[in-house]
Parts: sequence; structure tokens; C-alpha cells
Amino acid sequence: MWRVKSLDAILASAEKKSLTRSLGPVQLTLLGVGAIIGTGIFVLTSEAAQKAGPGMMWSFVIAAAVCAVAALCYSEIASMVPVSGSAYTYTYAVMGEILAWMVGWALILEYAVAASAVSVGWSGYFIGLLNSWGVTLPDAIAVGPYAGGIVNLPAMLIALLITGLLMIGTSESARVNAVLVAIKVTALTVFIALTLPVIKGENFTPFLPNGWFGDGHGAGLGVVGAAASIFFAYVGFHAVSTAAEETKNPQRNVPIGLIASLGICTIFYLLVAAGAIGAVGAQPLVGPAGEVLHSGSSALAAQCQAFSSLEQPLVCSREALAHVLRVVGHERIGDLIGIAAFLALPSVILIMLFGQTRIFFVMARDGLLPGFLATIHPKWKTPHIVTMITGVAVALFAAFLPVGKLADISNSGTLFAFFMVAIAVLILRRTQPNRHRPFRTPLVWIIAPLAIIGTVGLYLNLPTESKLV
Ligand code: ALA
Repeated sequence: MWRVKSLDAILASAEKKSLTRSLGPVQLTLLGVGAIIGTGIFVLTSEAAQKAGPGMMWSFVIAAAVCAVAALCYSEIASMVPVSGSAYTYTYAVMGEILAWMVGWALILEYAVAASAVSVGWSGYFIGLLNSWGVTLPDAIAVGPYAGGIVNLPAMLIALLITGLLMIGTSESARVNAVLVAIKVTALTVFIALTLPVIKGENFTPFLPNGWFGDGHGAGLGVVGAAASIFFAYVGFHAVSTAAEETKNPQRNVPIGLIASLGICTIFYLLVAAGAIGAVGAQPLVGPAGEVLHSGSSALAAQCQAFSSLEQPLVCSREALAHVLRVVGHERIGDLIGIAAFLALPSVILIMLFGQTRIFFVMARDGLLPGFLATIHPKWKTPHIVTMITGVAVALFAAFLPVGKLADISNSGTLFAFFMVAIAVLILRRTQPNRHRPFRTPLVWIIAPLAIIGTVGLYLNLPTESKLV
């Protein structure tokens, strides 16, 4: 249970059964941005508004700060152990098999459930687009049982389609990804350019309607509760470190990919949040007794139904960014943002599934999962079996669960993995001080403890059921 796999053994087995090294620094940064920008900013912005109001700006900053310190820890280990498997591999090397196995499953939870969450977010934009073109899907096949439907068919189909792409091969998928990242970044830039000029100062007051911790209205509310959820918007940058084994010169390129992609996304998010809040307002809806309604609750859904679609407050929308543009009079451009999300969110699903299958692959290679899972397809050169199994599971989650809940569950797995990596960095500094570190976390005795405190702090502010999962 406590045996470790030495770093040298890890590096050796990676050479034995390895994937092709084809990714460079730009592709890696694109991989990061592709994994990061997604449902978090495009969809969960409305949930964050319901939890924190305009104060969600702080939530974005807090979540980014936790990710930044965690990314610095990740970079050190990712550059020291440039093989597939990220936190799982690092834990195996430092804290032993049983904890590695737990981290592996936490990562599977994170990536697989995140892929499901993004599929559901995509489905919201897809259905919104169909609506604006006069086509209405019946609820039975448009939403899961949580919202009065049977199955979210669009979410399920997109997850299966992406699975097929991944089975055919990484390099083709990476090229498609680069185009989609460009579309996504353009969409956010257009959004910022159209909303910042129409910002109204009064939309920012009250700035903290639910305070920092929900002001006694319940767990998961307020700025910090929203930060724990919106953390999802940053999840994915470590998909870069998961691809280390397929990267040229990983010692240099992995840290570049991690830090560059995180920095780019943080700037975009703050500008987008400011634009959305300032243009249409972001105050939470409250119930008859003044109680704050929980996102995803039927009480909130009932209140939202009382508004016509253009009058709906931000907190009601399932396609937040398109909605904001439509409300400020750019209906057609709102549709274009919808099309951008429609085209680009699948790249996030792709990266999440990619990371997930690579962790499964490495665990199988280590014998912690059945060995046949590590089989590589002779022609496609991909771990096709594990990809297919994962894809079907992801499609089923997407078919039946709501996006906010999936995001929170995914966050619980991510926070656990980050926490373990921060500990592993410190242990390795003590036990193997002389090992070559192409990238050293600056001020590690401050940064790593901050990462530990940050991940625990956000975890404690997740809704109870996500913590239990
Ligand atoms: N950060 C990714 C997203 O927001 C998971 O969709």
C-alpha cells in the first residue's frame, strides 16, 4: 500500500511503452487555453452571479489565485517528471501506491465529470441557438430529469462524437483544437468590446449582496462559495502537464504552457465578468421571504419562468454571454457568440477526455487497473479501449445531471489532486534536494503552503453533496 514508484522507475517505464512526442510550446499553450476557457465562463457566470452578485469579480480573483499557486507547484513536478498521469504519477513517486490510487480516481472524477459538465453547457447554447432560429426541442430530450425532462440528448451525443475523434488520434485532434481556441478567444474579445462601453456604475451596487460567506443564507453562497464553483472555469490548465509525455523538450515547454495559458485566461475572465455585470446587472434573485435561492433549485427556475426571455436577469440564463449581448441590443452578435460556444466548447470536452484517458492509461500501465486498458491501437496509436469506455460513461453523466452539480463534483476531485501535488513538492524538496529541477517553484515554502490552504479553503466552501462524492 505504501510502496512508492521511484522517479527513476517512472521515467524508465514511460520510455518502455510510450506515446509519440509531437507537441511544442505554442501547441501546449493552446492545449491549456483550449482546456481552460469553456463552460465556466460561458455558462457558470450566471450561477456565480446568483451566489455572489457583482462580488463574483472577487470570486474569479480568488479562484485564479489558488490556481496560480497550484500551477507553480504543478510546474515544478511536471518538469521533473515529464510523463503522463500528472498528480497521480507524482503522488505515486512521493506518497505511495494507495494515495496514488486515490488521486488517480479523484482525477478521473475531475476530468470525466468535467467533460460531462461541459457537454451539458454546450447543450444549453445549442438549444438556445435552435430557439433563436425558431426550432424548439421538446423538454423530454433537451434536459435531464432534474429539470422536468428525460434525457439531455444533445449533451450525450456531443460527448460520444468527441470520443470518436479522440480514438482516431491526438495530432489531428490537436489541430482541430487550435482552430477552436481561436474562435473561443475571438468570441470573448467581441463580448468584451461590446459590453465594456455600455457598463453602468449602478449595476455594481450592492457589490456583495450575499457577503463573503453567504451572510447566513446557507453553505456555498457568497463570494467564497462562488469562488469554489467558478474554480471550474480555471480547471484544465494541468491538462498541459498530463500531456508531458507527448511534448517535445518537456522540461522547458510544460511550465511555459501552464503559466501562459493560466495568465491569458485570468485576464479574459475578469474583463468578461466586468462586462456582463456592468452591462445588464448581476443581482441574485431572492424568494418571497428574502431568502437567497440556490442555483439549480426549482424555486429559482419557477421565478425565472415569470420573465420573458429578454427580460430574464443574468442569473436565469443557460447561455449567459449570448443572453447579455441580446439584452443590450446585439441580437445577431448574441447568436454569433452562441455559434462560437457551439463550435468551441467541444474542444474543452476533447481536452478533458484526453487527460482522463491518459490517466487511466498510466494507471493501467502501472497495474493499478487491468492491463488491457493500456493497449494502444496499431494504426491510430491511441489508447482506444480506455477512450471508448470513458466516453460512454461521460455521455451518461451528461445525459442525466445538471451542469452546476457536475462542475462542483469535478471541483472536489481537482482540489484534492492539487492539494496532494502541493504536499508532494514540499516532500520532494526535503527527500530529493539534489534531483535536477528544470523549473523550481519560487518561494516554495510560501507558495506550496498557500496552495494547500487555498485548496482546502475552497473545498470546504463547496456544497455538502459534492464534498461527499
Ligand atoms: N475550465 C473548463 C471550463 O470552464 C473546464 O469549461
